[in-house]
Amino acid sequence: METVKIGLTKGRLAEDAINLLSKCGINCSSLKEKNRKLVFDIPENQIQVILLKAVDVTTYVEHGVVDIGIVGKDVLLEQEKQLYEIVDLKFGKCKISVAGKENFSEVSKKHLRVATKYPNIAKNYFVNKGQSVEIIKHEGSVELAPLMGLTDVIVDIVETGNTLKANGLVIYEDIADISARLVVNKVSYKTKKNELAKIIEAITKVID
Ligand code: PRP
Repeated sequence: METVKIGLTKGRLAEDAINLLSKCGINCSSLKEKNRKLVFDIPENQIQVILLKAVDVTTYVEHGVVDIGIVGKDVLLEQEKQLYEIVDLKFGKCKISVAGKENFSEVSKKHLRVATKYPNIAKNYFVNKGQSVEIIKHEGSVELAPLMGLTDVIVDIVETGNTLKANGLVIYEDIADISARLVVNKVSYKTKKNELAKIIEAITKVID
C-alpha cells in the first residue's frame, strides 16, 4: 500500500475535517496540537496530511501533490479545476449570497458594482441574469465595500449572518448552498485505487 496524501483546508473547515479523519480511524493526535506545523506524517495509517489555504487545496490536488483534498464548494465553483468531486461531507454549511445595504434596489441600477472574493461566481450569476456588472475583487472584509460606497452590493459567504447584521447589511438573493467536499486527483484515482477506495468508503460511512 502506498502513502495517501491529504490536503486539508486551514481555518473554519479544519476542526471538522480532522474529526472526520479521526472517526475514520486515522491517528490525528499530531494534527490537534496547536502549533504552526503544516506537514504531518501518520505512518501507522500510511497517511500524510498537509494544511493549506482553501484556494490552494485544489491546486495541490490538481497537480497531484496531494491525492485527496477537503475544501469548500465555494472554492470549487470559483476555480473550476480539473479534479474529481467525490463526496459532500455535509459540514462547513453556508451559502453564497448577494447582499448590501437595506433599502437598496439593484433593479434600478443599469450597471451594478460588486465586491467579492469570488469574481467568477459573481460574474456568472449576474451575466445569467442579464445584469451588467463591474466586479471589484476583494481579499477579505468584503462587507466594507457597500458601507464605504465602493460598490453597490457584495457576493460573499454567509454562515451565521452575524457579519452582515453587525454591519447593517441584508441578503438580497442566495446564489448557492455550500458545504465541504472531498476531492480527488484524477491520476491518483486510478494509480492509488485501492488506497483511496478504502478512505472514501470509511469517510462515506461516517458521513452517512
Ligand atoms: C467570511 C465571509 C464573511 C463571514 C461570514 O469571512 O467573507 O465575512 O465569513 O460569516 P458569518 O455569516 O458567520 O458572519 P472570513 O471570516 O473568512 O474572513 P475574511 O473576511 O477576512 O475573508
